[in-house]
Amino acid sequence: MRVSVIGCGYLGAVHAASMAHLGHEVVGVDVDVAKVEQLAGGEAPFYEPGLPELLASSLATGRLRFTTDIAEAAGAQVHFVCVGTPQKKGEYAADLRYVDAAVQGLLPHLRPGDVVVGKSTVPVGTTERIAEEVTATQAGATVVWNPEFLREGFAVQDTLHPDRIVYGLPDGEAGARARELLDEVYATPIAEGIPVVVTDRATAQLVKVAANSFLATKISFINAMAELCEATGADVTQLADAIGYDARIGRRFLNAGLGFGGGCLPKDIRAFMARAGELGVDQALSFLREVDSINMRRRVRTVDLVREVCDGSIVGRRVAVLGAAFKPDSDDIRDSPALSVAAQMGLQGAHVVVTDPQALDNAERMWPDLRYAATADEAAKEADVVLLATEWPEYRDLDPEVFGQVVARKVIVDGRNVLDPVAWRRAGWVYRALGRP
Ligand code: UDX
Repeated sequence: MRVSVIGCGYLGAVHAASMAHLGHEVVGVDVDVAKVEQLAGGEAPFYEPGLPELLASSLATGRLRFTTDIAEAAGAQVHFVCVGTPQKKGEYAADLRYVDAAVQGLLPHLRPGDVVVGKSTVPVGTTERIAEEVTATQAGATVVWNPEFLREGFAVQDTLHPDRIVYGLPDGEAGARARELLDEVYATPIAEGIPVVVTDRATAQLVKVAANSFLATKISFINAMAELCEATGADVTQLADAIGYDARIGRRFLNAGLGFGGGCLPKDIRAFMARAGELGVDQALSFLREVDSINMRRRVRTVDLVREVCDGSIVGRRVAVLGAAFKPDSDDIRDSPALSVAAQMGLQGAHVVVTDPQALDNAERMWPDLRYAATADEAAKEADVVLLATEWPEYRDLDPEVFGQVVARKVIVDGRNVLDPVAWRRAGWVYRALGRP
């Protein structure tokens, strides 16, 4: 099948390469010339495990190409809209300008029978508005919503082997035909037994924000428990293990620590609250405000903990921050808790040095006033305190004996609860963590 993918960022680049891998004829479109050149050359414009290999194999088939010219989307039967929907500056609502621009760009190239498939995370109701615009220009085209649930760091695996596929379809003949085309697009995962949920467009849009809100709530729930643990001397990691054995609760997404960040969870819960307000049901989501504030409090608590282990003041203290990305296996620094805490400590007078295996370039561009080092050893040289902020494997696996030789004081704050307190204390470190005694 011929498909176009509009927007080649974290979502679209992986989707385009994956669609070609599944056997489709794919054109990826993006306005960013440099990004298109990189992708066309087989280079991933961001760090995502498995993407370079997938790009290389898909480009080699001749079924995948990239362009800045949206006119080349003409001729595709299915057009995936994969552009970003960031938070608006100074407001909670989602900024839909990229979605609108993608649809406007596509309009002149649509033919009767084409299906426009939204994958971006949008406020519920957006699809219906887009559908009106599309049918006003091309009455024979159909708009459907097919949300994407990929996690950065696992994007290739999640795209090729998702937990579920969701179609949000309009009623009638147009919806039935769109379903046939989508079934053809996803024939391989469907044959592998991936469940398909076929629903209306409003539900499909809600599925995505509801899922992300639930995940954010789970993380903030355990971080709220961490606050209780801190006040009582209890251990949140053992608490999470114990409640996680209950299959109704589950252990995943119960890792307490610095909290959630990234390009999805924070802005999605805020956009969801904004949309609920517009719909007159803001009370239904008022708990998400609490989810957000628990999450932001973790950052403040982390700075406080670093201050505590620096005997009450971080002014002039050397703090090594291990990690800049919002999570491991990603170079994404959008709303990164690690960088937010590093910046706060810098503003409060600490001498902060940040390191990260993949995200240093992005971090330096965004926070030029912080200092950076290429390795954990360099960052921690003569440090008064080390803060583990992103749980990259190389930081989890640090040998406390060897690492202890580079620092000035053996003091570590484990912002992700991933180190073994016994081993670090045995090696002479003061070990502190969020939600653990
Ligand atoms: C998320 C959703 O998981 C994905 O389904 C959706 O499509 C996009 O948003 P992503 O942003 O890539 O994916 O990251 P995710 O793995 O969900 O982690 C989000 C944040 O939560 C990270 O900052 C991570 O460190 C934090 N987190 C996650 C915790 O603090 N504790 C946990 O137990 C899990």
